[in-house]
Amino acid sequence: MNINPIFEQRRTVHEFKKEKVNDDIIDRALVAANLAPCHKLTFPWRYKDISVEKRKRIFEISLELKTQKIKLSRSAETKLYDKMMNPSHMIVASQIKSSNPVIEKEDYAACSCSIQNMMLSLAHDNVGSKWSTSKVTKSPNTYEIININSDEEEIIGFIYIGYGKTPAEIKRPKIESVFSRI
Ligand SMILES: Cc1cc2nc3c(=O)[nH]c(=O)nc-3n(C[C@H](O)[C@H](O)[C@H](O)COP(=O)(O)O)c2cc1C
Repeated sequence: MNINPIFEQRRTVHEFKKEKVNDDIIDRALVAANLAPCHKLTFPWRYKDISVEKRKRIFEISLELKTQKIKLSRSAETKLYDKMMNPSHMIVASQIKSSNPVIEKEDYAACSCSIQNMMLSLAHDNVGSKWSTSKVTKSPNTYEIININSDEEEIIGFIYIGYGKTPAEIKRPKIESVFSRI
């Protein structure tokens, strides 16, 4: 089993086509997400698959947040709409809160592993994804729409899933600059 190509295949997709991803693929990705390591077996990740209706409401909030600062052109508004509505699925990832900062930090690490597992599984099925932490992910209105109690859980990202354009290659640091044998 050579899993190495998957690490290169997983790239953040920014432009999604309006094409549905089979639910079996999503289910497999969630099984992978649930297999992530976590210290003290806290299993701190939670996922919600958001309906189109709720996504539209979240888009309205995002639009409102953006237009607080600047007036958006019609094409910029359409671009934002497509960004949020074109992906086949939008999964909200949240983390169970803890009053212990050490556990919170380790739990965020575990959630990150979980999200990466999900995205790698999707990449294996030739499906693109994007982890977004844009402002709308933090809005109290978003919490209300998707029924998350912010005292108990923190939204740590929207995971957009679908078929789309592979982005241009990015320059990564050379291994020698991030790793040494001492
Ligand atoms: C915690 C986290 C939050 C991110 N939030 C955003 C975001 O809000 N908007 C965005 O365009 N990309 C976001 N990304 C994706 C990164 O920009 C992307 O991973 C980076 O550009 C490297 O590209 P690659 O994923 O194709 O390797 C996020 C990634 C991580 C790990």
